[in-house]
Amino acid sequence: MELTDSEGKKYLDLYGGHGVISIGHCQEDYVKAITAQLSKIGFYSNSVHIPLQEELAVKLQKLSGYSDYKLFLVNSGAEANENALKLASFYTNRSKVISFHGAFFGRTSLAVAVTDNPAIQAPINKTDKVLWANLNDIESVKKVIDSDVAAVIVEGIQGVGGVQIASDEFLKQLRELCTQNGTMLIIDEIQCGYGRSGKFFSHQYSGVKADIITMAKGIANGFPVGAVMIDPNIPAKFGMLGTTFGGNHLGCAAAIATADVMAKYNYVDNAAKMGAYLMGKLKGHKAIKDLRGRGLMVGIETFADASEIRKRLLFDEHIFTGFSGGVNTIRLIPPLCITEKEIDRFVEAFDKVTK
Ligand SMILES: Cc1ncc(COP(=O)(O)O)c(C=O)c1O
Repeated sequence: MELTDSEGKKYLDLYGGHGVISIGHCQEDYVKAITAQLSKIGFYSNSVHIPLQEELAVKLQKLSGYSDYKLFLVNSGAEANENALKLASFYTNRSKVISFHGAFFGRTSLAVAVTDNPAIQAPINKTDKVLWANLNDIESVKKVIDSDVAAVIVEGIQGVGGVQIASDEFLKQLRELCTQNGTMLIIDEIQCGYGRSGKFFSHQYSGVKADIITMAKGIANGFPVGAVMIDPNIPAKFGMLGTTFGGNHLGCAAAIATADVMAKYNYVDNAAKMGAYLMGKLKGHKAIKDLRGRGLMVGIETFADASEIRKRLLFDEHIFTGFSGGVNTIRLIPPLCITEKEIDRFVEAFDKVTK
């Protein structure tokens, strides 16, 4: 849970390297597994059979409850979304996609095209194939969906957008609308997934199933791995998707070790418990305008300037936090191994810096 700087000062990490560190920095089993793999074989291309990919697929099926979904491995979140969108377009033979205001899906060409931030879209990324709707407003989706929409892509909880939860009711309505229109429902669980919300995938609170789910960040505790989980009814055809580095031996070893540690210590449950503990402590705090979140993905919208509060947390109290500037929100996305002791330390520090 801690980082140490060049002068030996220790910092409590409630940011987890942007929600990436799921099982803690330098976790012992994880370090051992990657080191051992490196001395066997670090990389060979997908031109050979890599059994570690199957081992990982089975572990993810078990952890997620998506027991029959297939797995395609890549190297980042943007790449996972890029492939998910491409797959939906291949499968439906359609070319449009619906995204949401406030969404962030990454910086590669399609991923950035469905991201609601023109400042990071180069002219070549701009396309009229993307239709926009409002999160938690099904009528706005109905207005734009038609028989040329390959996919709706939505974050289970918007992260960069400031911890905005896609409500259970909205996800149910979206699922129904997608099924009616033959449109693929892609749920991005890159930041809110992998146990962070207190369920393996945040959308599992709603009971809906996605056609395609994307993962990255916490999946390998900092080793660059992204993943696409795919409904078995979508047939894989040779040449549809491909990658050189995706699913490499080291990445798989890192992801397998992470999955094992997650299961061993029951960190999904810990995320639910510690998230509830944190929310309970912050509820009704006089400095907080709005408190949003599920599990260990928590947005604290403050009355005062959140960036100033963060600075004081970092420099005076030695606590790392995240930020969503558009909505003046401190974002907490800590490692899932956090305990009450660290939460108490944060709450005390937050009290102090907001006095
Ligand atoms: C919800 C979501 N999707 C996709 C991405 C892109 O992931 P990457 O930076 O690994 O490409 C991010 C990154 O912050 C994200 O938060």
